[in-house]
Amino acid sequence: MNFCVAAWCVIFNILIAFCQYGLTKLAPDYIIPCNDTSSECLIKSTQYAIPEFVNGIPNLNVPVLDPFVIDKLTIPLNGLKVTFYKGKVSGFRKCIVDNVISELEKRHFVLQFHCNLTIKGQYDAVGRILLFPINGEGDAKVKLTNLRMKVNINTKYTKDKEGRNHFGLRNYKYTFDYGDRVTFDLQNLFKGSKELSQTVLTFLNENWKLVAEEFGKPIVDYAVDLVIKSIEKFFSAVPYEELTNVPIPL
Ligand SMILES: *[C@@H]1O[C@H](CO)[C@@H](O)[C@H](O)[C@H]1NC(C)=O
Ligand SMILES: *[C@@H]1O[C@H](CO)[C@@H](O)[C@H](O)[C@H]1NC(C)=O
Repeated sequence: MNFCVAAWCVIFNILIAFCQYGLTKLAPDYIIPCNDTSSECLIKSTQYAIPEFVNGIPNLNVPVLDPFVIDKLTIPLNGLKVTFYKGKVSGFRKCIVDNVISELEKRHFVLQFHCNLTIKGQYDAVGRILLFPINGEGDAKVKLTNLRMKVNINTKYTKDKEGRNHFGLRNYKYTFDYGDRVTFDLQNLFKGSKELSQTVLTFLNENWKLVAEEFGKPIVDYAVDLVIKSIEKFFSAVPYEELTNVPIPL
């Protein structure tokens, strides 16, 4: 009799262990699912998640976003060729979320935020920038103050092999502006002449908006693409039901 009870206990415990295994949560603890799609809740929970999310999630293949590395990025422009090397972009962890809109039925998601970002690395550049001839290489540091961005994402719902629902991304578009100020610190813009280098650098900073508009977009494209890919990886790893308590629309 006693033996029988003990055997049942063992089986029961194994069953419980199985159930817990089956219910293993994939979402990290900093994901707080909202009970509704109010912007108020979504902003709060997105803001809460960002400082941790940017550290990456190795077991879900989500890369580190702060700092993130741009090994090499060439920006081909009319009359100027600029290449960035070993760029390190930091600051995402402190981005401020301005709005989040989730329209589950319309499969539409909007994320709006602003950030201060710093890009550090090396560059080389040959050609002309605005009026100035440039032939330089050296250390580069670019600071963006209150870069504002709005990302519009069209989503879809998919099922994984285990039959769980997931958010998916169909496509996205974004708009941005360079915000309050972009500061350039590019060393040695004109090889061999410190004076000319300094003159050109001062000129670039005085005309930061024009300069940013000339060659900023490829860098911003790169950053947005990386962030979107990270979100995509996250969505394909973590089931829908762990991200929101609002049922999936049929
Ligand atoms: C959602 O509802 C549950 C149960 O009422 C509550 O414990 C939880 O805090 C709510 N979540 C949010 C984000 O408000
Ligand atoms: C960016 O820096 C400026 C000036 O230091 C500060 O006023 C602003 O609040 C910062 N913005 C963010 C998103 O941290």
